[in-house]
Amino acid sequence: MPVQPSPVVMGIETSCDETGVALVRDGVLLGEALSTSMDQHARYGGVVPEIAARAHVQALVPCVRAALSSAGLTTADIGAVAVTAGPGLATALHVGVSAAKAYATALDVPLYGVHHLAGHLAADLVDGEPLPDPLIALIVSGGHTSLLRVGDLARDPIVHLGDTLDDAAGECFDKVARVLGLPYPGGPAVDREAVGNDPAALAFPRPLTGRTDSPYTFSFSGLKTAVARWVEAHPDSTVPAGDVIASFQEAVVDVLTAKAIRACRDHEIGDLLIVGGVAANSRLRALAAQRCERAGIRLRIPARKRCTDNGVMIAALGDLLVRSGAAPSRPDLAAMPGAFLDQAQLGVAHPARRAA
Ligand code: KG4
Ligand code: ZN
Repeated sequence: MPVQPSPVVMGIETSCDETGVALVRDGVLLGEALSTSMDQHARYGGVVPEIAARAHVQALVPCVRAALSSAGLTTADIGAVAVTAGPGLATALHVGVSAAKAYATALDVPLYGVHHLAGHLAADLVDGEPLPDPLIALIVSGGHTSLLRVGDLARDPIVHLGDTLDDAAGECFDKVARVLGLPYPGGPAVDREAVGNDPAALAFPRPLTGRTDSPYTFSFSGLKTAVARWVEAHPDSTVPAGDVIASFQEAVVDVLTAKAIRACRDHEIGDLLIVGGVAANSRLRALAAQRCERAGIRLRIPARKRCTDNGVMIAALGDLLVRSGAAPSRPDLAAMPGAFLDQAQLGVAHPARRAA
């Protein structure tokens, strides 16, 4: 009997300021389109939910058309729709979820609601090998910082080893960048300005790295305050701004990589995956590579362009769910702005889980 080909999965991402659409089948990326409203938020120093939502409304259908055209496909070729149902900005998520439901209904194809952060974990499935099982994952985005134990991404519960108590790593980059007078978004600006400067010029604190601290828990608001205090207290400093920036960045990536490697060692897991917008940071990538090599840990980080939000990660996760035989999400799938990450799929009546 001939083997049925997998359906083409259209993935839709609208959780923050990026409208992303992509088409994936059997782990192969067929087409993609991305539109960002980042420039419209820059003057406010952060994402404005209403502006983001309006931009998604304007960009969504053009992105679907552009992704289809880059794949040489039409809507009739779409066999399933995956969409970020949460977490994210409520106004922004509603646009993607409503559009996904409309496409799925009109085309009479199954709908898969997915968790945005699980999408980050799947971001480079279209570029490389399947994910190792199990692995330790470090998610570092604008809203989340978590160390996770991940098994079969499509089927198993996702276990949180530790999270941030306050600011996320990306949020810390964005807030400190503001204090230092760098443009929004702060992460890429800090990354650029730190290049070639001295990361050891100032010894900023490494929060929660003491012997009695919880090994996998993060806290970045104290570090943010420490940088702000230092800047206030040294208006006439001779330390070059680039060295202050590089020293701050070093404190963040030192803590992130040390805790991630500790988690791999403690759990005897030889694979580390680092994802999310902050995974695009060049110093994080370099230090993680260096420390993982020394510790004998295999490191996987998606290409920089796949670290920040995009539609490919959602289509890749949808494709993984489809190929794993997951049941579609409920047709009344709702946006879940505060969705907790304990499984890849959202809006499932009875999640099918592999026995422990
Ligand atoms: O994953 P993402 O695109 O959106 C969320 O899901 O939050 O992450 C955005 C975050 C922002 O805080 C941004 O400043 C940070 O990722 N970011 C970076 C870099 N590129 C983006 N942080 C440090 N270095 C970068 N190169
Ligand atoms: Zn994200």
